[in-house]
Amino acid sequence: MKVDVLIIGAGAAGLMCAMTAGQRGRHVLVVDHANRPGKKILMSGGGRCNFTNLGVTPAQFLSANPHFCKSALARYTPYDFIALVEKHRIAYHEKELGQLFCDESSKLIVRMLLDECAAAGARVETPCAVQAVRKTEEGFSVLTARGEVHAQSLVVASGGLSIPSMGATGLGYELARQFGHNVLPTRAGLVPLTLSGKHLEHYQDLAGVALPVAQTRVGKRNFRAGLLFTHRGISGPAVLQISSYWQPGDELHLDLSPEQNLGEWLIAQRTERPAAELRNVLGDKLPRRLAQRLCERWLQSKPMRQFPDAELRDIGGRLHDWPIVASGTEGYRTAEVTLGGVDTDGLSSSSMQSKHVPGLYFIGEVVDVTGWLGGYNFQWAWASGHAAGTVA
Ligand code: FDA
Repeated sequence: MKVDVLIIGAGAAGLMCAMTAGQRGRHVLVVDHANRPGKKILMSGGGRCNFTNLGVTPAQFLSANPHFCKSALARYTPYDFIALVEKHRIAYHEKELGQLFCDESSKLIVRMLLDECAAAGARVETPCAVQAVRKTEEGFSVLTARGEVHAQSLVVASGGLSIPSMGATGLGYELARQFGHNVLPTRAGLVPLTLSGKHLEHYQDLAGVALPVAQTRVGKRNFRAGLLFTHRGISGPAVLQISSYWQPGDELHLDLSPEQNLGEWLIAQRTERPAAELRNVLGDKLPRRLAQRLCERWLQSKPMRQFPDAELRDIGGRLHDWPIVASGTEGYRTAEVTLGGVDTDGLSSSSMQSKHVPGLYFIGEVVDVTGWLGGYNFQWAWASGHAAGTVA
């Protein structure tokens, strides 16, 4: 079979690229080895797909070249995607911090992309595994489970390594290497962190305890959002965000009450409740079980009247800057994204086309561009898919 554009991967980036190229009159085929397209879109945002973020800027993306994402993000903005969502009459709402979610279901986003592909004449074949890819004089020859496909342009949109049970594979990295591209080391991002040793021993039975607002910090980077203790460590948005910046050996700092000066609050409490024990007073500010545990393991509980100002300020300071050494992450099994990947040095930032092999493109998560939690990763998938779709 002959097509103009063959896209490997019917995820967010691949489907956006397919509809964009199809709208230009290109004959497009998308193949995916999964049994249905857009599986990660379906599971995203708790089933409601956080499909973009109103505050997208290049600053919310990690990459060895932080400038690479600028061009594509500027040419396909959150408002372009919102216009598409509105054209399909999909109801949505802003949850917090500019994060846009479907009111009903992420199925509607997949349906919308497939309808756009169909309207543009782009075909989507699933399940259809890719067995081999080679360069030919006219373009590429790709051996798939449904036969050989000849294409002028080949777009690799096969995603990263996160959630292998949903069909993630390293095919995109293998193809990049096959065609002479550098692949930067990959690691799990937006992922819970694990604790070990004393920290795990002391805090593991707090699993389920949550702080609505905490601050995580590694070096100068910090995030303020919810935090959750788990059986193996810590999770919640503040932890997922910082996990993309955390490297083994880095000290992680937690601020358990970033919105209020705890030292001054404790001093005021001492005046109001001089006979109350520290653990009970802290239990009014922090989850009770956590306050209890901190006083058993780390702070000394006694009646408030026995604490001088300096000691209460010191306790406050420690709770605002609790150093924790994470032992690792939960890995690709639960990670939302994969950091690293196809080196942007080898790609055009305006079209995502390979600088070494004309007609070859890499888009979406397989590229070394990773967004924060909050709709940024889909916006990168839409923007990079659109960039390639306008030229492939
Ligand atoms: P994506 O992974 O979507 O698609 C790749 C496709 O390639 C898949 O369909 C896969 O089957 C196929 N493929 C892989 N190997 C292949 C092979 N060997 N042969 C053929 N096909 C192959 N982001 C966000 O912005 N908002 C959110 O709400 C969420 N929520 C979320 C929840 C969970 C649980 C996860 C795991 C991730 C998110 N994300 C997210 C991240 C987001 O899902 C991710 O960044 C995008 O899906 C990436 O889009 P891509 O198209 O690049 O890859």
